[in-house]
Amino acid sequence: MALASPALSAEGLPTLGTQPNASVYKVRGAVIEIAALRGDIVRVRIGRNGNRPPPDESWAALGTSRESRAPIERFTRGQIAGFTTSVIKVTVDQESGAIVISDRKTGRVLMADRRQAFRADPDGAGFSMGKSLPDDAHYFGLGDKFGPLDLLGRSFAMWNTDSYGFQEGHDPLYKDIPFFVGYTRQGYYGFFLDNTWRTTFDFGHEKPGQVTIAADNGPIDYYVMAGPTPKDVERQYAWLTGTPAMPPRWTLGFQQSRWGYPTEASVRDIVAHLKRDRIPTDAMWLDVDYQQNYRPFTVDPKTFPRFHDMVQTFSREGVHTIAITDLHIADHPNAGYAPYDTGIAQDRFVKKADGTNYIAPVWPGPALFPDFTQKATRDWWGALYRQFYLTDGIAGFWNDMDEPAVFDTPTKTMPLDNIHRIDEPGFASRKALHAEIHNIYGMQNHRATYEGLLALKPNERPYVMTRASYAGGQRYGTTWTGDNSSNWNHLRLTVPMLESLGLGGFAFAGADIGGFAGSPSADLLTRWIEIGMFQPLARDHSDEDSQPQEPWVGGKAQEDIRRRFIEERYRLLPYNYTLAEEAARTGIPMIRPLFMEFPEGLLNGIPLDLAAWGQFMWGPSLMVAPPPTPESPAPYSVTLPAGGWYDYWTGKPVSGVKPLKLWGASGMFLTLKDEGAASPHALPVTPRLDQLPVFVRAGSIIPRQALVQSTDETPKGPLEIDVYPGANCHGSVYADDGHSFDYRNGAYSRTDLTCMQHSDGSIDVSIGKPEGSYTPWWHSYHIVVHGVTRRLSQSVIERGHTLAVVYDADQQSVALEFPTSADAIKVALQ
Ligand code: GLC
Repeated sequence: MALASPALSAEGLPTLGTQPNASVYKVRGAVIEIAALRGDIVRVRIGRNGNRPPPDESWAALGTSRESRAPIERFTRGQIAGFTTSVIKVTVDQESGAIVISDRKTGRVLMADRRQAFRADPDGAGFSMGKSLPDDAHYFGLGDKFGPLDLLGRSFAMWNTDSYGFQEGHDPLYKDIPFFVGYTRQGYYGFFLDNTWRTTFDFGHEKPGQVTIAADNGPIDYYVMAGPTPKDVERQYAWLTGTPAMPPRWTLGFQQSRWGYPTEASVRDIVAHLKRDRIPTDAMWLDVDYQQNYRPFTVDPKTFPRFHDMVQTFSREGVHTIAITDLHIADHPNAGYAPYDTGIAQDRFVKKADGTNYIAPVWPGPALFPDFTQKATRDWWGALYRQFYLTDGIAGFWNDMDEPAVFDTPTKTMPLDNIHRIDEPGFASRKALHAEIHNIYGMQNHRATYEGLLALKPNERPYVMTRASYAGGQRYGTTWTGDNSSNWNHLRLTVPMLESLGLGGFAFAGADIGGFAGSPSADLLTRWIEIGMFQPLARDHSDEDSQPQEPWVGGKAQEDIRRRFIEERYRLLPYNYTLAEEAARTGIPMIRPLFMEFPEGLLNGIPLDLAAWGQFMWGPSLMVAPPPTPESPAPYSVTLPAGGWYDYWTGKPVSGVKPLKLWGASGMFLTLKDEGAASPHALPVTPRLDQLPVFVRAGSIIPRQALVQSTDETPKGPLEIDVYPGANCHGSVYADDGHSFDYRNGAYSRTDLTCMQHSDGSIDVSIGKPEGSYTPWWHSYHIVVHGVTRRLSQSVIERGHTLAVVYDADQQSVALEFPTSADAIKVALQ
């Protein structure tokens, strides 16, 4: 018990600080190093038993961020020592070791130790930390947790696990993202524990009033981010662990997949059917079926005889092929299987404790597991993609089973005493137990693929999807929520799960549309497609044993509804791509909890989401409000945050709102005091299968385009700009070539859009000067201003010209069209 010994009490002083941005405190045998990386981010590292913290290594936090320095001012008052940055105040109680991190100006406490900095486990390897849990606290994040958005009152383990058929509350799942966003009435903050061993987070479940964070082993190494808004926290976390990889534009299109398209002919049939039924599509996924005996990097010549031609044909039709390449390399010697032969020759595989190669069953039978903790292994792995990527023209890859999953063993993974041989820039070369590496194994598989593709085509954005990952994995691409089930509760919980992944950096994530395990009813598949079209990765995928679930399954009436929603996603592509770029630049996710856009939208002091169950923001402007119990025909009430809303589908301002009611703690319905536009309202809705309520926030400008059948197609006609007047009215549209990195050198186009409604009803719409050197596809703008109740005279001054406008009294809208310009354009509608 490192902290229990009174003999080691308070010997330290802040003068031990060795770096200009850090202080070191020695308290009861603990060596507490606290560094200010930026004014708003501090890092705490604690060494035990009188030792300094272990060497500074991280798979998640960027080296440049860890080396960053911010000025601090130290102080000591009695037994309290500490420092301030421009934003944060840190105190350390030199008797107990308790650390308090707060906002320097407001006094808002971000994280406060309950009694001491940590408690050591009796065996000395593990530790736990007790942080205080204020009465008004709520917690969000931790990656792929499957339940309500708020983590309060629950307990979670972080241990990447193959979880076929998981259901609500099942934990842990596939990913370990030990980062959460904390809330109190005073603001938001972020907390990230950078420890790859098995860890647990308990938010007042076992010990009321306490957040308990524990790990089996590994460093006490955490970061506190000061917020104060949720977007600030997201930017801070992205600064620390990296922004999400910029996806190729086509990955925002609709994607079809299934385990169990057994032959090339069946895959070609599916693509032909999608084309025939005019379901816009951008990607066709190939699951393990295409391989020879499930051996990664092979193609079965019997069942997929014209593989290369198939991929090329799809690509000419605007359909990108994505192939699964699992990490396990078949134990298949003396057969000319290059991944095995080269891997053995170069000694690339994970070892057992006795030093021999670890071999265990997965899809191909006995298999070996690349040791991705070595740069050389990742380089070797990356080169395995040469044929698929450079010759066949496969556009993206899928890294599955990388927890890593192992069959026929109760632990579902490899022995914890297996040996990895870390050989890696930024790390001491050393042997590490699988128990330390387990949670980053999938992340390093993902990285190996991403970096390998980059080496093969340096100016193409790689597209790689992984199942397992760790904090920072967003740098290497996308993920999905694994083997969900075809039931209504899964559809419902997909929303908080994708929101949590987004908070944890994974801006581009999806859930298998229609559900993986089991077969959806026609209604469930329809609803899932509707909601899925407003989520980052839209892939219909299902299990081998399930009934088919392509968009046409269940009959024409259902297919017509589904097609309408898929088409809407394609019309929204300019908006969606603008969101994707924002996420890749800033870390702010595409799918957002309401609190991210309305951090001050509180109901009785709690964030709106907790009452508006299942509603989510798609970017800053669109709010999607599916029925909270999606199978129920019962009317429900949509929570409309303050500020005014339009109906996305009709373009008209929302009317018929009521004062909001919510469940009080006593189980009674409470009605909020109606403070007019400043308070949230409720809109009664009766669900219909063919409708999904979507609302536009007043003050938004949304770019759209004409329908295309693939994002490779150039839309015909103008860029459509829908203006929804309201306070702080703005929007933007981003474009680039959609696939290369040229945008980094200025080859992009970003145009800011604003509008202003005057008291006499006239409206100005301004189109900013396009920034960047890229010329987008559109040559004219078609502007529609919604919610216009006064007939505007049919003329407009635009750079001295008068333009015709069309006023539609019925639609309460006014429309006009004019060519693009290299300069800013201001249009006055009078
Ligand atoms: C895993 C994946 C699933 C895939 C299957 C076969 O269960 O999670 O998506 O279809 O393996 O490769």
